[in-house]
Amino acid sequence: VSLKPYNTFGIEQYARHFTKAASVEELKEALLWAKKKEQPTLIIGGGSNILLTGDYNGLVIKNELQGYQVVSDDDDFVTIKVAAGEIWHQFVLHCLKHQYAGVENLALIPGCVGASPMQNIGAYGVEIKEVFCELTAVHRLDHTTKVFSKEECSFGYRESVFKNSYKDQFVITDVTYRLQKKPVFHIEYGAIRQELDRLNVTELSINAIAQAVINIRSSKLPDPAEIGNAGSFFKNPSVEQSQYLSLKKAWPDMMAYENADGTMKLAAGWLIEHAGLKGYRKGDAGIHEKQALVLVNYGNASGRELLEVCNLVTDTVFRKYGVQLHPEVNVI
Ligand code: FAD
Ligand code: EPU
Repeated sequence: VSLKPYNTFGIEQYARHFTKAASVEELKEALLWAKKKEQPTLIIGGGSNILLTGDYNGLVIKNELQGYQVVSDDDDFVTIKVAAGEIWHQFVLHCLKHQYAGVENLALIPGCVGASPMQNIGAYGVEIKEVFCELTAVHRLDHTTKVFSKEECSFGYRESVFKNSYKDQFVITDVTYRLQKKPVFHIEYGAIRQELDRLNVTELSINAIAQAVINIRSSKLPDPAEIGNAGSFFKNPSVEQSQYLSLKKAWPDMMAYENADGTMKLAAGWLIEHAGLKGYRKGDAGIHEKQALVLVNYGNASGRELLEVCNLVTDTVFRKYGVQLHPEVNVI
């Protein structure tokens, strides 16, 4: 089966076996089949954070688990369990409609609910760990069900236990979020405030914030329906204060934010742009002309060609600044 429709980079690679799971029973059946046939499994939701670098020699399972369930509801909070195959942005729209606050800054992030804890999705000053309650996952080999608390997920910046010690071991089947009925607004990040002013917003609301985020995102991130991409390809790297100070001396306009532990998070997009690579293109693989952190497929690039661009970026950035970039996208 061609995986081209199932990855937002639009890369043509094939799965040896492919199935869809619309219920936990179907998922377990698929896992059992793969175990019997000794096939590895790859779970995909929206395919918006993967780079396929070859055919998948195993079983690809497209997660299509659907449904919302209100777990608790009081004056201050509502807790909702969402099936892993639901579209993340549809969930955000559901929250906006009901005036449940907490995910408005995360509007328009592509992909499914089940992948949201994988890298603790984040944008515009908010990460899902702030609204995360717990998740349910099925073990890929023994098919037992395990509930993970927030602590057990070990969330970090674009990190969780599922990308590290539990990599490829579990399938997330639902995620429970706790939303606020009395909103706390986050408008400090980036251009949100300016965009709210531009929209003439006089009374702040979660809907206004979501609209501002949607407008900003649409103005700089390429739409995968038009140009293949998986959002930021690299994580923003953190360096010690001392290294930051010497970099800042050499490049006074370098962008950085201070982390809670005192280290400095550099803007990888800035590093790549100022290394002269913004808009780079070789064949159909390239670096987006408006956002240097986004690698793009202009048509028929292969995963390997994109990986070459990835290596060009990491080598160039390391040689110029002595800073190591790491992919944020899951390279498969
Ligand atoms: P997939 O790409 O299908 O999967 C990602 C990884 O998770 C894979 O390794 C997959 O095997 C695994 N996985 C998926 N579902 C499950 C499951 N149910 N159980 C176990 N493992 C699973 N991300 C951000 O954090 N912030 C952003 O602002 C942001 N902006 C983006 C903008 C664009 C234009 C694009 C294309 C991507 C952006 N992303 C962003 C990345 C992406 O949207 C998120 O990582 C999203 O959570 C991926 O969801 P998905 O369903 O597409 O995951
Ligand atoms: N910048 C440049 N040149 C560029 C791109 C960015 O100089 O080509 C500078 C910008 O001027 C800005 C700074 O870098 O000063 C940060 O840029 P931006 O606000 O666009 O955010 P980012 O760091 O590039 C991160 C996330 C995004 C998220 C936005 C908003 C990572 C790896 N990326 O991008 O997440 O949407 O912030 O919060 O942390 C994703 O994970 O796929 C993703 C898109």
